[in-house]
Amino acid sequence: MRIQSSDFENECMLKSNPRGFRQWIIPSVAGSILVLMALCIFYLELQLEIERKSAREEIRFVKQRPEAAHVDCARLYLNDTEYMKELAKTRPALPSVSTIVLSCETIRNRFFPARNPDINFPVLHARIVFQDYEFLEEQLATNYASENVYCFSIDFKAPSIFHEQIHNLERCLPNVFVSRDDLEFDSAGHNQNEAHLNCMKTVLHRNWEYAILMQNHDVIIKTHGEITEILKIYGGANEIDVGQCPDHRCIESLEMNLGKLKLCPKSLNATETKKCESSNITWGKGAMQGMLSRAAVDYIFDEIDVVPLMKQMNDMGYGVDEQLYGSLQVTTEIRFPGAFHVKCRDNDSQSITRLTNTRPAFYGMKKRLRSVVNWITNSPDNDCPSGRQRHASCIFGIEDLPTLAAAKQVMANKILPNFDIAVTSCLSELLFNRTRDGPNIDRRFYENINKVRYHRDSSKPGFNIDEFKCEL
Ligand SMILES: *[C@@H]1O[C@H](CO)[C@@H](O)[C@H](O)[C@H]1NC(C)=O
Ligand SMILES: *[C@@H]1O[C@H](CO)[C@@H](O)[C@H](O)[C@H]1NC(C)=O
Ligand SMILES: *[C@@H]1O[C@H](CO)[C@@H](O)[C@H](O)[C@H]1NC(C)=O
Ligand SMILES: *[C@@H]1O[C@H](CO)[C@@H](O)[C@H](O)[C@H]1NC(C)=O
Ligand SMILES: *[C@@H]1O[C@H](CO)[C@@H](O)[C@H](O)[C@H]1NC(C)=O
Repeated sequence: MRIQSSDFENECMLKSNPRGFRQWIIPSVAGSILVLMALCIFYLELQLEIERKSAREEIRFVKQRPEAAHVDCARLYLNDTEYMKELAKTRPALPSVSTIVLSCETIRNRFFPARNPDINFPVLHARIVFQDYEFLEEQLATNYASENVYCFSIDFKAPSIFHEQIHNLERCLPNVFVSRDDLEFDSAGHNQNEAHLNCMKTVLHRNWEYAILMQNHDVIIKTHGEITEILKIYGGANEIDVGQCPDHRCIESLEMNLGKLKLCPKSLNATETKKCESSNITWGKGAMQGMLSRAAVDYIFDEIDVVPLMKQMNDMGYGVDEQLYGSLQVTTEIRFPGAFHVKCRDNDSQSITRLTNTRPAFYGMKKRLRSVVNWITNSPDNDCPSGRQRHASCIFGIEDLPTLAAAKQVMANKILPNFDIAVTSCLSELLFNRTRDGPNIDRRFYENINKVRYHRDSSKPGFNIDEFKCEL
């Protein structure tokens, strides 16, 4: 009996017994060969399975930036304070001169396979930017899902190389868009609402369910899977931080009449329009960051005109971008989709948009003077976990990673790439692992947020706002 030889069979063939009787040996050898072949196939399958498994293991890890390759993120998330202290002595920073290769092929290699699988709930990430291309590209890759839409508005006065780099992303990736405008931003917030609106306008033709509004250095600390779970719980409610507007922000000389501000929706009938046009805006102060429902964004473009309100805010001094969404959100007459009620405005806003670590000392009477000096000088004399602050907000360092991992918020600020790149590097690893292991959010927490409950309850028949309780 001869067996056709092949690699696989050679490996497993036994020497056959040359002696013995034909009639006995043939069936017995044939039987043995069958058993051996079965064993061989089993063995090869096992080898293949081991190989497949190690391939799976490989994609279980995300590559760290070279500057942060020595950092053991898991130890940091376990709040190993000794290790933190050791690392903090020489914090890795993003190199000031970028050597990153920008051909579309290499860019696509950094983005695909996409870190986040599609889940049929596309989200728009709208970001206004002015610096740190490498940081931005890394954030984009970390948060990337093919179904999402990403738009950028670039500060007109950013260096031309930066403009080119961002436009290059638009060329290389199918779902990245750059708005064609030439606005100048500043840290007082001038033109930032306008820039976000331009950004959103460029992607109105695309399908997305919510828009996340961000600034250059906002870092997302939830996976696409987690964000979509949260937004599905929101179910059309806007995630907008809103509180009372301080008198120095919403000054008396500002126009408040909704008719003059052109904030009465077009689709109202004559009687309703008349009533709306004689009403005043209800001021709300919040942030320029937020998460707007698609219906709210469409409403801004189709039903009302926010330009007069933005214009008069832009003429003011500081934080001029923080009143637009807050005021739309709590002015009942505007009928903003996904809105909130002014009744709960002054209670804790329960905003989950952004985690910041603002130094309370700034507001305390006793330390006020020192704090003001700190604020202006960004003095290192402060009690931030990282020992660094800017404009009375702590700059997050590796010391904050356990807090960032446990946070309910969707993004964090301030995380600066020239201070401690290990923070974004480790966040990226955390998000990668969470995408791999599946989202795990505290649903009850999000379901019970006042604005979410309000949105759910107010659409039910017989809803009575007087009976609605604003809970902390
Ligand atoms: C991510 O997962 C890898 C592989 O399981 C593990 O080695 C690493 O410590 C994890 N990182 C974090 C931050 O949990
Ligand atoms: C306008 O709409 C209101 C509320 O929907 C309704 O009660 C009213 O009859 C309408 N008025 C006119 C003139 O259509
Ligand atoms: C609107 O605000 C102006 C200025 O504060 C005030 O004089 C006026 O009475 C207000 N109108 C209504 C309808 O509340
Ligand atoms: C980390 O450890 C420090 C020092 O023991 C402690 O003050 C801090 O609260 C811990 N942080 C977290 C998030 O557990
Ligand atoms: C706001 O919260 C406080 C508790 O701090 C509560 O007493 C008050 O009733 C709440 N306001 C509203 C309008 O529900």
